[in-house]
Amino acid sequence: MDKTILESAALLMRPLETGDIDEIPSLVEAPEIAANTFVPRPYTAEDAVEFVQRARERWQYDEAYVFAIIDKDLGRFVGCMGLHPALEHDRAEVGYWVGKPYWGRGVATGALRLLIRFGFDVLNLNRIEAGHFDHNPASGRVMLKANMRCEGLRRQYILHRDQYKDVIWHAILREDFNAEGKDSKDQTNEKTAED
Ligand SMILES: CC(C)(COP(=O)(O)OP(=O)(O)OC[C@H]1O[C@@H](n2cnc3c(N)ncnc32)[C@H](O)[C@@H]1OP(=O)(O)O)[C@@H](O)C(=O)NCCC(=O)NCCS
Repeated sequence: MDKTILESAALLMRPLETGDIDEIPSLVEAPEIAANTFVPRPYTAEDAVEFVQRARERWQYDEAYVFAIIDKDLGRFVGCMGLHPALEHDRAEVGYWVGKPYWGRGVATGALRLLIRFGFDVLNLNRIEAGHFDHNPASGRVMLKANMRCEGLRRQYILHRDQYKDVIWHAILREDFNAEGKDSKDQTNEKTAED
């Protein structure tokens, strides 16, 4: 299994491990997670097993890179963030959730900055994108804080739990990332360890 590690002062991100399975159901139990993602609700132990096994398989085939987010101060697994590539276009889409007890601590923003850097520096992507429902402004704030730009609203773009939903789309290009300058890049301290 890949041993990529992304790290900042506050966070560590690593591929999901089977040891994470038991913690996932309680992390995703808040209804706001199902309301804003495709995480199943109710969420069973079997869902967690399938999620982790699938994530590990997809990583091996470069179909998705799903990371566990660890809060270093707490020493806890607090959420997940994944990059889903369309490599023929050198681009990828991000998805994420953070367990509700850990909201508002900058976890998603810090993780997204690390993931963006991984996408450009390690995967050599040209574009990284993400969308959120219009009823989820916190996620839009995360995208903007990670220096993605808003590209507009896609009307009824996603069929989510039997409802067509508008999605507000954000992206960062390699040229934006390169132009950010040293300031924002210094907010992360990513390292990758492959063995
Ligand atoms: C969205 C989510 C990932 C944010 O995680 P987080 O770790 O709390 O995010 P951060 O702390 O990095 O940043 C959250 C920002 O949103 C802001 N925010 C929170 N609620 C908000 C609201 N109702 N309207 C606008 N901004 C809001 C916070 O104030 C913070 O911004 P600030 O630092 O400028 O104050 C988390 O709430 C979550 O998992 N939600 C359910 C799943 C989900 O929405 N996934 C994303 C799908 S696109």
